[in-house]
Amino acid sequence: MSAKFDLARMRLDYETTGIAEDNVDTDPMVEFDRWLTAAIEAEVEEPNAMVVSTVDPSGQPWSRHVLLKGVGPAGFDFYTNYESNKSMDLASNPKAALTFGWLELHRQVNIAGTVARISDTESDAYWAVRTRGSQIGGWASAQSRVLNDRDQLLEQYEKVEEQHPGVVPRPSHWGGWRLIPHTIEFWQGRRNRLHDRLRYTRDRSSDSETPGEWTLGRLSP
Ligand SMILES: Cc1cc2nc3c(=O)[nH]c(=O)nc-3n(C[C@H](O)[C@H](O)[C@H](O)COP(=O)(O)O)c2cc1C
Repeated sequence: MSAKFDLARMRLDYETTGIAEDNVDTDPMVEFDRWLTAAIEAEVEEPNAMVVSTVDPSGQPWSRHVLLKGVGPAGFDFYTNYESNKSMDLASNPKAALTFGWLELHRQVNIAGTVARISDTESDAYWAVRTRGSQIGGWASAQSRVLNDRDQLLEQYEKVEEQHPGVVPRPSHWGGWRLIPHTIEFWQGRRNRLHDRLRYTRDRSSDSETPGEWTLGRLSP
C-alpha cells in the first residue's frame, strides 16, 4: 500500500441537498437529461464520459470509459470499433451496464439494459461530424489487437492518410451501439454515508416495441 497516503482515512463528507421521490421526474430519461445538463453546466471534466461494462463468453466482466454521443427515449448511444473486445462481448452477450461518475457533484448514475447496433445511417451521420484525424484514426486502429510497437500504429495512420486524400468513408467495422435501459439508478452523496439511491426499473423485455412503465423505488445506501 501507499506509504505516503492513508487511504483508510481519505474521505469526503457529502453535504449536498438530496433527491426525493417527489422532486424527480416519473420518466428517468427526463431525469437523466437534467443530471447530464447539471454536469455540463458545472463544467465537470468530460461530462459525457461513461464506463461501459460487458461480459465475455467465459463470464469475465471488463469495464472501460467511452463517450456518450446520443441520448433520447430510445436509449444511450456510443461509437466504437465493431471488432474490438467490447463489441465482441456485446455480439455474444448483448447486455451491458453504464456508469456515469460526476464526482464533483457527488453524483453517480448506473444503468443496465440490452444493447443493439445503431443503424448504418445513424453511424454515418456521427462519422461525418468526427474530425479528419479521428476518422483516419478509426481506420488505422485495429482496436484491442496487440501491436508490435507504437510505430506500427503511426505507419498505419500514414498509410490510411495517403489512401484517402479527400473524404474518409466510414469503415464497415466501425459504428454505434445503443443501450436500451431496463434499470436506471440515481445516486446522490449525503452526510454520514446516508446517501440517496433512487432506482427506476421496467420490464426487462423493454427492448420490445412497447416497453413497460417505469417503477420508482428507494434503495438503502
Ligand atoms: C474518457 C475516455 C473516453 C473514451 N471514449 C471512447 C469511445 O467513445 N469509443 C471507444 O471505442 N473508445 C473510447 N475510449 C477508449 C476505451 O476506454 C477503450 O480503451 C477502447 O474502446 C478499447 O476497449 P476494449 O478493448 O475493451 O474494446 C475512451 C477512453 C477514455 C478514457
